Amino acid sequence: MPIKLVTTATELRAESARLLTQKQGVSQGLVPTMGALHEGHAQLARTAAEQNDVVVASIFVNPLQFGDAVDLDRYPRTLDADLALLEEQGVDLAFAPSVEEVYPGGEPMVRVTAGRLGEKWEGASRPGHFDGALTVVAKLLHFGMPGAGLQAGGAFVSGSAGGLPAYRAYFGQKDAQQLALVRRMVADLNFPVEIVAVPTVRSSEGLALSSRNRFLTQEQSEAALVLSRALSLLEERANAHEPLDLESAEELVASQPLVEVDYFDVVDPRTLEPLAENCKETPFRGEGLAIIAAKVGPVRLIDNVPLNS
Ligand code: PAF
Repeated sequence: MPIKLVTTATELRAESARLLTQKQGVSQGLVPTMGALHEGHAQLARTAAEQNDVVVASIFVNPLQFGDAVDLDRYPRTLDADLALLEEQGVDLAFAPSVEEVYPGGEPMVRVTAGRLGEKWEGASRPGHFDGALTVVAKLLHFGMPGAGLQAGGAFVSGSAGGLPAYRAYFGQKDAQQLALVRRMVADLNFPVEIVAVPTVRSSEGLALSSRNRFLTQEQSEAALVLSRALSLLEERANAHEPLDLESAEELVASQPLVEVDYFDVVDPRTLEPLAENCKETPFRGEGLAIIAAKVGPVRLIDNVPLNS
């Protein structure tokens, strides 16, 4: 079925209700994106299409989560290619609202605050980023909710008497801190949605896909491979029930002069608190997440691998 592009919340609600009725659907999936889509987003959309009767993808470059106006301006906008990619994965509706549609009164006065979990790691380098991201995710989760929605002006209309369809939203494991925060927001504030995490998609050489990779030169892309190599080293150690030896992994990254590390650590996947020092010296047991962020040329890259033993 050809994808349908809608730009207002009212149209989105009407179209998703129409599709749910037409397909006698019992579930709706939402894939929130900022566009400039790549195979990682395709994987999110495919997973949503496999698991739901109706799939909505949002495309919105959210000014609230950019600290820097230059970064916001240069964020790639590729709507036609994005629509083609989404259609191929079986997405029914693309919701590409304007800034005025999402923030009709200008910058919102009341926002979601990410709290302590939003201040560390990425949050330390990008103050306010997660408050902005969570605020828009909260709004997108409301816009994309099946059987209920927002009337013009912001009031909720309730769903059908027969019970609401299941509602799921899809986020990439690559943005591990965003994922942990979205899960926390949904749990802490009782959002009626299931959050589904989709594993990171990598290039054949191992680089985690990101919309920002297009700004890397060939030399920088090659240098950036050291991030996933260092993470794989820790993963191998964890799988072999050996001490993680973070030092060797750090040395590997430091050997690449084009890569400027911001942080590299092993943390609890839910709280993102660093795991006890001793997991670096004694055999690794349990669950962890190895996280890394680095600047390569003009681009800040993040990556992570789940560690299970
Ligand atoms: O991960 C992203 O692309 C964005 O942070 C999101 C979740 C679409 C919110 O703007």
